[in-house]
Amino acid sequence: MKIEASAPSNIALIKYMGKVKGSTGNLPTNASLSYSIENMRSFVTLEPAPGDADIWSPLEGLTPIQLSSVGLEKFLNHFKRLKQKFEIPGFYHIRSANNFPADCGMASSASSFAALTLATSQLAVEVTGRPALAKSELSQLSRLGSGSSCRSMFSPWALWRSEGAEPLDLDVRLEHAAVVIEAGKKPVTTSEAHLRVSSSLLFEGRTERAELRLEHLVEALRTKAWRSAYELCWAEFWDMHVLFETSQPHFSYMNADSMRFLKQIQHVWEDTGDGPLITMDAGANVHLFCRPEQVLLAEGWLKGWRTIKSWSSSEVSV
Ligand code: PMV
Repeated sequence: MKIEASAPSNIALIKYMGKVKGSTGNLPTNASLSYSIENMRSFVTLEPAPGDADIWSPLEGLTPIQLSSVGLEKFLNHFKRLKQKFEIPGFYHIRSANNFPADCGMASSASSFAALTLATSQLAVEVTGRPALAKSELSQLSRLGSGSSCRSMFSPWALWRSEGAEPLDLDVRLEHAAVVIEAGKKPVTTSEAHLRVSSSLLFEGRTERAELRLEHLVEALRTKAWRSAYELCWAEFWDMHVLFETSQPHFSYMNADSMRFLKQIQHVWEDTGDGPLITMDAGANVHLFCRPEQVLLAEGWLKGWRTIKSWSSSEVSV
């Protein structure tokens, strides 16, 4: 028996940053909204393993995931939790990998935890004969392993308020490219960032600001008010990065090259009255989203930068 599953990565335009105090299982302090990147995916296979422990190895033929010992423990613990939930006996060999470069600073935890959750749910159907859970329930389970992975269950738009994500029906298709400013290890892990932001004096009001921006962004996207959408996404990632910069102790992800690219895009908007949406995660890289008809223009904006383009008309191209 061999189970295979895959899930896309997702990038949030309204960010999940900060967890409910005293809670477990990655409950967010505010709602987040993301776009799933269909052709940047993680793949997981499961096969029965001899012995008395689950094991993991990279899935051959794709870009292997480099798992740290902490990362590996988190991944195996999530599988164990899912096996308990689904009452799956025995031990398994988990293989996983991404179809995008590992050293590009693109978080693969969302797609890999979502793919593992999907694979284990298929395994449960196979082994126990019980019907498959709905995507919304799988989203809640995936959240326990990695918060943002709960949004990878839905494409393209996912809205995550508390327990799990739900699809958001928005008639807007976007094209994504990542500008790889820094591919190495981050100075502060995202898990640590979630903890530290609440020490910023500016954290007060963060929930309300994010909720209001979410409401306005959904409206801007629905009405194709691109400039408002751009400004809301811009304000949102700055809000998060200012929390990083004002935490105690403070930390930074942005660097001079991130700023140079941000300024370049700001000029595109100033000069032409139009442009792409941009956002940043807990890292120095910048994510660009454009409308399908802007892809040719985007090629120009991205010239000279190391990029990972996931234009829907082609495979991921670096
Ligand atoms: O799911 P985590 O713990 O890796 O957190 C993701 C946090 C951000 O990428 C910064 C924002 C988001 O909503 O994806």
